[in-house]
Amino acid sequence: MSEKTSEDHPPSPTPASPERPKLWGGRFTEATDRFVERFGASVGFDQRLYRYDIEASIAHARMLAHVGLLTEAECQAIEQGLLEIRMEIERGDFAWLEELEDVHMNIEARLTERIGEAGKKLHTARSRNDQVATDLRLYLRDQVDELMAELGRLQSRLLDLAEREADTIMPGFTHLQVAQPVTFGHHVLAWFEMFQRDRERLRDCRRRINVMPLGAAALAGTSFPIDRNFTARLLGFDRPAENSLDAVSDRDFVIEFNAAAALLMCHLSRISEELVLWSSAQFDFIELPDRYCTGSSIMPQKKNPDVPELVRGKSGRVYGHLLALLTLMKAQPLAYNKDNQEDKEPLFDTVDTVRDCVRLFADLLPALQVKADRMAAAARQGYATATDLADYLVRKGIPFRDAHEIVGKAVRHALDTGRDLPELPLEELRRFCPSIDTDVFDTLTLEGSVASRDHLGGTAPRQVRAAVQRARLALEE
Ligand code: ARG
Repeated sequence: MSEKTSEDHPPSPTPASPERPKLWGGRFTEATDRFVERFGASVGFDQRLYRYDIEASIAHARMLAHVGLLTEAECQAIEQGLLEIRMEIERGDFAWLEELEDVHMNIEARLTERIGEAGKKLHTARSRNDQVATDLRLYLRDQVDELMAELGRLQSRLLDLAEREADTIMPGFTHLQVAQPVTFGHHVLAWFEMFQRDRERLRDCRRRINVMPLGAAALAGTSFPIDRNFTARLLGFDRPAENSLDAVSDRDFVIEFNAAAALLMCHLSRISEELVLWSSAQFDFIELPDRYCTGSSIMPQKKNPDVPELVRGKSGRVYGHLLALLTLMKAQPLAYNKDNQEDKEPLFDTVDTVRDCVRLFADLLPALQVKADRMAAAARQGYATATDLADYLVRKGIPFRDAHEIVGKAVRHALDTGRDLPELPLEELRRFCPSIDTDVFDTLTLEGSVASRDHLGGTAPRQVRAAVQRARLALEE
C-alpha cells in the first residue's frame, strides 16, 4: 500500500509503527495503530508551545536539583541540552515526529537522545498533565501582555484622533436615524471606552492565568519532596495552584481569555460596521486609505472597505471558538481528560485573529480621512436640533412634555414645507409658541447644540478635550 493512499483513506486497522519505542510503551503488547497515532497527535499544532515547554522544564529541573532529586551536573546537562534543542527548533533543524505525539514528548525524547541518562530523569515528579497546563498558562500570559500592549497602542491613537476631531460635528444616531448632533471626537471616545473595558478584562483574566499547575503531576500530586514555590518563583507565577485535581483540569483561563477576546472582537466589529457604512457613497463621512481597500475585478469604479469587512467577519470565528471551548469543558469529570488537547487550536486561532485585528485598527484608524463638511451637512438634514428647541422652550418656562409637542408640530411644518428648523423665520416659529425669541437661533445651530452639552460625559468639544486628558492618564495605569 502506497503512503499516499494511506494518507487519503487509511484503512483500519493500519499497520503499526514499530520503529521508535513510546516513552510510555512498557505495559503495551502491540504498537499503536498508525491512524490512531495520527488522530491523537497534537505536535502539528502544540509545537507552538516549545519555548514555554523548555522554560518550564528548566525551572522544573532546577527545582529537582534544589531539593536533591537531581545532581547539579544532571541539572546542568538538562538545562544545556534544552537550550540547544531550543536553538535547533529556532533554526528549523528540529525533526518533529508525529509518533512522539506532542511537543512535550518530542522535546523530552530529543533531550535523552542528546544527553543520555540525565534526560530520562527530567520527568521525575511531573506529568504531561501538569506540564501542558503550565505551558499553556505561560504562553497565554505572554500573549495577553502582547495583546494589551497592542490594544494600548490602538487606544492612544484613538485619543489623538479624538483630540484632532474634537470640534468636528456629525449626526449622532439612534435606530440609525439622525438623532442629535455630536462631535466626531466624542464618537471616537466612545470607541476608546469599549477598549478600555477590554483591557481591564484582559488584565483581570491575567491574574487567573498566572497560577502554576506544576507539582500537581498526573492529578494527585507526587510522592517526591518538591518545592512548588521555588518553581513558581522561577517561572514568574504569582503562586502554585491550590488543588492538584483542579490544577491539571482547569481550562477556565482559556475560556475567560476567549470570552474577553470575543467582546473585543464585538467592539471591533461594531466599529467596522460604522466604517463600512460611513465610507459608502450614501454616507460619505470618511475616506479609507487606499492601502486598506481593494477594487473589483469587474466594476472599475469600486473601492471596497475590505479590512473592516474582514474584521467584522472574523468576529464570527472568535465567537465560534468560545462556544467550542465551553462545549469542550462542559461534561468533563475531574481530572485531566484527553478532550483538553482540543483547547489549543481554538485558543491559538483566537490569539492570532485578535492580535491581527487590533494591529490593523491601530494603523487604520489614525489614517482615516474625515469629511467634516459631509458630516455637518448630514447633521443639518435630520432636524437634529429639535431637542435643543424643546430644551430652549423649557428654559422659557414651558413644561418639557408641552415643549416636545410644540416642537413636534414645528418639525411637521418644516417637513411639509421642505425646510430645516433654523430656516424657519422667527414669525413662523412664533406661531407654534409665542415665547420663542431671536435668541432661539443660537440654540438651533449645530455648534450651539454640541457646545451646550457641556458636562462630564457630554459631547461638547470642551468636554471631549477634557476627557482625552483624563483618558491619557487612565491609559498609563
Ligand atoms: N497533548 C496533550 C494535551 O494537549 C498533553 C497532555 C497529555 N496527557 C496525557 N495524559 N495523555 O492535552
